[in-house]
Amino acid sequence: MEKGIRVGEKVSKYPIIQGGMGVGISGYRLAGNVAKEGGIGIISTADIGYREEDFYKNPVEANLRAIDKEIDKAREISPDGIIGINIMCALNNYAEMVKEVVKKGIDLIISGAGLPKDLPEYVKGTKTKIAPIISSARGAKLITKLWRTKHDYIPDMIVIEGPEAGGHLGFKLEELGEGENPIPLNERPKLEEITVEVIEEMKKVEAETGKEIPVIVAGGIYTKQDIEKFINLGASGVQMATRFVATQECDASYEYKQAYVNCKKEDIEIVKSPVGMPGRAIKNKFIETVKSSKPKIDKCLRCIQTCNVKETPYCITRALINAVKGNIDNALLFCGSNAYRIDKIITVRELMQELN
Ligand SMILES: Cc1cc2nc3c(=O)[nH]c(=O)nc-3n(C[C@H](O)[C@H](O)[C@H](O)COP(=O)(O)O)c2cc1C
Repeated sequence: MEKGIRVGEKVSKYPIIQGGMGVGISGYRLAGNVAKEGGIGIISTADIGYREEDFYKNPVEANLRAIDKEIDKAREISPDGIIGINIMCALNNYAEMVKEVVKKGIDLIISGAGLPKDLPEYVKGTKTKIAPIISSARGAKLITKLWRTKHDYIPDMIVIEGPEAGGHLGFKLEELGEGENPIPLNERPKLEEITVEVIEEMKKVEAETGKEIPVIVAGGIYTKQDIEKFINLGASGVQMATRFVATQECDASYEYKQAYVNCKKEDIEIVKSPVGMPGRAIKNKFIETVKSSKPKIDKCLRCIQTCNVKETPYCITRALINAVKGNIDNALLFCGSNAYRIDKIITVRELMQELN
């Protein structure tokens, strides 16, 4: 049996996908080095053009230009490795981004924060493979049925993201133990259970269609033993993000990485996001400020479909750009629930050796 993950003609050395992290946290340097070291490197497209001169004037063009450059630079680092792109469905320029990366011949597109209903339309007849991110067996069943009936397409991979992940979470506040009626711990969704259910669903589709659908598991996976646990449950691999933030090659500022090293368990909390989904982040001055007041938004960049500038608690683009640049007090510091376990910044190679 292959140890790595198959993406079309290519197979990664290790069963590890480095999860996409916006804004700019997983750019070409991290993704290229992960691919070079035997994993699958994922560049996030979310406002990837933030360093372009015209970003605030022409965000769409700046992002499209930047993604081309990022893919080229990642390819320079790893000409033969597997490099993919994470595109959130909630982005306003979703279709344009997808078309651009397909044109660049990207190996894989992973899409969450909503259901990527029409993603197959853009990749048919190309070598690009596609994977939806789901948070339940119901979600996996729904998107698979939709792709099969509407596009005659079977997912090339399924990524399950559980409640311990970083960034936006596909769960209700209550399911995360928050909100007005938090669900007791032992009744909350568990990644292990979701994994078993999704694999069962995908096995049925595999039996019907003869196509293999690797199931990849994400959210709170931290050690080699964690990876082995999910492989033993039948997963083909894992997607990890938090651990890759604290690597030398990660595209984030030193200050961001150091915030992971310094944070304690009680500093990590569930936050509201303009995307309309809960998120997980490190408690800081910014989070405290937006709880009690609404920062003025001078110019809306129209990044997220679901964001209503009049009601949004803050501008997520600006908060995430502050994060990647190291303006930590004014930043939204997304992280997974295990970020507090990180105590030093290491290289991607060292991390891959530790995990395999
Ligand atoms: C800083 C950060 C930013 C993230 N940004 C995105 C994103 O832009 N799109 C997305 O689909 N997932 C995003 N995620 C989720 C990761 O890709 C990944 O699936 C998840 O965090 C895995 O859990 P782990 O961090 O515990 O390993 C982000 C996670 C982190 C930690």
